[in-house]
Amino acid sequence: MNRRRRIYEGKAKILYEGPEPGTLVQHFKDDATAFNARKKEVIDGKGVLNNRICEHIYTHLNEIGIPTHFIRRLNMREQLIREVEIIPLEIVVRNVAAGSLAKRLGLEEGTTLPRSIIEFYYKSDELEDPLVTEEHITAFGWASPQELDDIMALAVRVNDFMAGLFLGVGIRLVDFKMECGRLWENDLMRVVVADEISPDSCRLWDLRTNEKLDKDRFRRDMGGLLEAYQEVARRLGIMPEQDRPVVSGPTLVQS
Ligand code: TMP
Repeated sequence: MNRRRRIYEGKAKILYEGPEPGTLVQHFKDDATAFNARKKEVIDGKGVLNNRICEHIYTHLNEIGIPTHFIRRLNMREQLIREVEIIPLEIVVRNVAAGSLAKRLGLEEGTTLPRSIIEFYYKSDELEDPLVTEEHITAFGWASPQELDDIMALAVRVNDFMAGLFLGVGIRLVDFKMECGRLWENDLMRVVVADEISPDSCRLWDLRTNEKLDKDRFRRDMGGLLEAYQEVARRLGIMPEQDRPVVSGPTLVQS
């Protein structure tokens, strides 16, 4: 597998050349990083869980007509994706105040926001992903006004889908980060959801207890990251093959 040409290595994933032109293989590593990789750890099995959870989300997004780069899962750690040109933005959608928003505006973590809020961060390790506005994005040409409209429409649809998906299994979608890419089909270009969506890039709180089921467990030294990701996978009705004695559907939680 790993004799394929490596195209790019990020903090949590590696991209390899795909089997056909226009495709890539996205490999999920076990590396966990935070604070621009100043904090780093290897968490055995994280990549396997994120691969499965991401597959679950992107398969459903594709099914309901929200375009993504995802084609299919190949194995425990890898998925086949379409090659896209990544738009250099982290698109964060927030439903509940937490993390940097809570800090920046002095809000108590857990406060429900008056409405869902979309934020943009410019992807730059050197600059530590600064918060930017639509003005910066269009003035510097990171995305055109039309692309930005498409990105915001995608972000709202992904948020609505994911909030419902997680609510159905007793989890509150506090916020999440997504990335978009330009996909060319002949001469036509469209913006699609790219990269990954997993507990690494979301805040997921148990609906009843507010227990954190996401990467904040690592960022905040709480421990139990793998168990939390396993719990998310279990509730969604997906588990890595080796841990899956019976195939079960999602667990409905009564509120
Ligand atoms: P923040 O509150 O730290 O700005 O994070 C907002 C959301 O974005 C949260 O769900 C975690 C996710 N996120 C990433 O996926 N990558 C990052 O580098 C950061 C800072 C946040």
